[in-house]
Amino acid sequence: MTDHDTNIMLEVRDIRRDYELPGGLFKPKKIIHAVKGVSFALERGKTLAIVGESGCGKSTLARMLTFIDEPTGGDLIIDGKKTDTRPGHLTKEMRQKVQIVFQNPYGSLNPRQKIGDVLGEPLLINTDMSSAERRDRANEMLVKVGLGPEHFNRYPHMFSGGQRQRIAIARALMLNPKLLVLDEPVSALDLSVQAQVLNLLADLQDEFGLTYVFISHDLSVVRYIADEVMVMYFGEAVEHGTREEVFSDPKHEYTRTLFAATPRADLESIRRRVAGKKATSAA
Ligand SMILES: Nc1ncnc2c1ncn2[C@@H]1O[C@H](COP(=O)(O)OP(=O)(O)OP(=O)(O)O)[C@@H](O)[C@H]1O
Ligand SMILES: [Mg+2]
Repeated sequence: MTDHDTNIMLEVRDIRRDYELPGGLFKPKKIIHAVKGVSFALERGKTLAIVGESGCGKSTLARMLTFIDEPTGGDLIIDGKKTDTRPGHLTKEMRQKVQIVFQNPYGSLNPRQKIGDVLGEPLLINTDMSSAERRDRANEMLVKVGLGPEHFNRYPHMFSGGQRQRIAIARALMLNPKLLVLDEPVSALDLSVQAQVLNLLADLQDEFGLTYVFISHDLSVVRYIADEVMVMYFGEAVEHGTREEVFSDPKHEYTRTLFAATPRADLESIRRRVAGKKATSAA
């Protein structure tokens, strides 16, 4: 794989993140190796699902991919460009290209900010659009995520969990990103609402040609949305392949244990859930 492979949206080479825990008077400081050298490449328009048990480094990886956390080592090549992730070196263009959606959108929405302003804010900061242009774009995006202009002047507490996740997705899309990192985006939602949001994400991926890194602990969700699956275990990627490869023939002992712990027939149930509710109806 070279930097010139134009089909690749994201390439990660040996990325690492250590955290130093301060010691005490008689306690030496401790280093946590949260991500221990992970490498992968992801094609444009595809979805890579990342699974693994709590604490294995999924969110740490997500934060590095979205420049919230600086890697201790390794390279990030995004849209064909090697990215300088040091504070102050990151370009505006790069920051716009990659966006993140968290599990709990309530935590990231300011309770005193109207939804229209939530959506307009990235435009206000990053573009010279007029307020009328920002309003038009926000309204357009509300419709794209299955909400509407009537929601423009409402506050976050006036929405259901599913609707708030739609708002978080809309905000992530305001600057036309190419890569969306989704850290457990449906884990806090009821099953039927999960299906609607997954459906919406699939529609948006098609419409905007988005590339997804999708973190989930729910294998039925992974099976539904993923093109490729990467399994993490204690900071390492222990398995990576197409969805079919990983599900039909898990190579690593940990993956087999993970699959064995998950009830079967989940795929069928989630297919039914998704088929029953189309993305257009707001959650
Ligand atoms: N800012 C930090 N400072 C110190 N240690 C951290 C920090 N962030 C994460 N860690 C540690 O790094 C490891 C990986 O954490 P991370 O949040 O990436 O796991 P995760 O796979 O997302 O888990 P979960 O499924 O519970 O969300 C854990 O041991 C965690 O305690
Ligand atoms: Mg996490």
